[in-house]
Amino acid sequence: MKFRINLFAKLTKTSLIYFLFGIGIVTMIVGCNDAANNPGYEFMPDMYRGPSYKQNSRNPNFKDSLTNRRPVTGTIARDQAMPFAFPNTNEGYEAAGKELMSPLAKTPENLAEGKRLFEIFCIHCHGPEGKGNGSIVANGKFPPPPSYSGPLKDLPEGKMFWTITYGKNLMGSHASQLEQNDRWKIIQYIQTLQKLGGDVASADSTASKKDTAMAPKMAAKAPAKARAKTK
Ligand code: HEC
Repeated sequence: MKFRINLFAKLTKTSLIYFLFGIGIVTMIVGCNDAANNPGYEFMPDMYRGPSYKQNSRNPNFKDSLTNRRPVTGTIARDQAMPFAFPNTNEGYEAAGKELMSPLAKTPENLAEGKRLFEIFCIHCHGPEGKGNGSIVANGKFPPPPSYSGPLKDLPEGKMFWTITYGKNLMGSHASQLEQNDRWKIIQYIQTLQKLGGDVASADSTASKKDTAMAPKMAAKAPAKARAKTK
């Protein structure tokens, strides 16, 4: 009893501060560790290290040791484009012209988006009104594509979609840049250009010998294999 009383008597405010300070220093020294990535002592490690596997980590449960799994063969993820049913052949082109229709409603929003995309991906060849007089044609670097409102004024939308998907002669495939709905939006915009009438490219004589000579060379640069890869 006497001992206890003595102990409390000695525990003044200053000694208490020294005592707590000492505990702090000891904790810091014990808690420190050479290895920067070592968390030190882990109290209840289950809380930090859950049993689930992190994405991109190794996984001993699978033969290929990948945690990320591939989609089951033959399945299509929700909201992902359906495979394109028309092959990259003349028959596929003709069939698309007859059977393929836009699934999108013709809304002002789709039209505006189609115009925006056209001005990014197509305008430099096809020209602002689709008459085949884009900037690289005007520069003499590329033979003029046919005008949408001239030779192509009755082109069905399915053929347009096929061409944007696979490319056609000098025009390359745009499947990797534009997902299917974007292609349909551009087509809605092209349909407004088809109604304009007129044909700058064929009316003017810029399709000189030089341009026509360039055509087969440029076509050879876009090998059929590269196009066939796209969907
Ligand atoms: C590098 C220049 C170039 C670019 C870029 C380009 N085109 Fe073309 N496009 C052409 C040429 C050349 C043709 C003519 C192809 C042929 O019939 O020989 C063509 C043809 C077309 C046709 C008619 C296809 C048919 O079935 O006869 C459509 C529709 C078309 N392009 C749409 C587009 C759209 C949409 C874009 C943008 C996403 C685009 N093009 C980008 C050069 C281009």
